[in-house]
Amino acid sequence: VERSFIAVKPDGVAKGLIGEILKRYEQKGFRVVALKQLVPTKELAEKHYEEHKERPFFGELVSFITSGPVVAFVLEGKGVVAAARLMIGVTNPLLSNPGTIRGDYAIEVSKNIIHGSDSVASAEREIALWFKTEELLQ
Ligand code: GTP
Ligand code: MG
Repeated sequence: VERSFIAVKPDGVAKGLIGEILKRYEQKGFRVVALKQLVPTKELAEKHYEEHKERPFFGELVSFITSGPVVAFVLEGKGVVAAARLMIGVTNPLLSNPGTIRGDYAIEVSKNIIHGSDSVASAEREIALWFKTEELLQ
């Protein structure tokens, strides 16, 4: 079955959105197979966002994601990678439809509440980066 890596970013945790976000995915029918809260290290954040390392906002992105606790989890279910992204909205919250997580709870591109894997290959890479095998349910 397909899996996706999701993280409630420090702004989402600060806004008290952990429960709301988990509720949406649980009620959709996806299974939470791993879950933890942590303040990511700079090394972890740089690896997570390595595809953006040449972008002008990379330093800002890494310092933001390491600025406080993140709730990292893995969802499992049919089509979960694409479906979780549809439920998140697009990168810019002002262009995200109402009803999506970013559309409902954010304004700024740099503080957009949540991360979701953009492909099955990214999901596999990110799950291995954030979780040990023994932290994942079978
Ligand atoms: P993630 O789920 O966090 O990976 O977001 P995404 O897949 O919708 O966007 P992308 O991977 O292209 O960019 C990663 C993150 O970089 C975004 O979520 C934004 O927070 C941030 N970002 C993207 N573009 C910009 C930008 O132009 N300026 C700033 N400050 N941040 C940006
Ligand atoms: Mg991305």
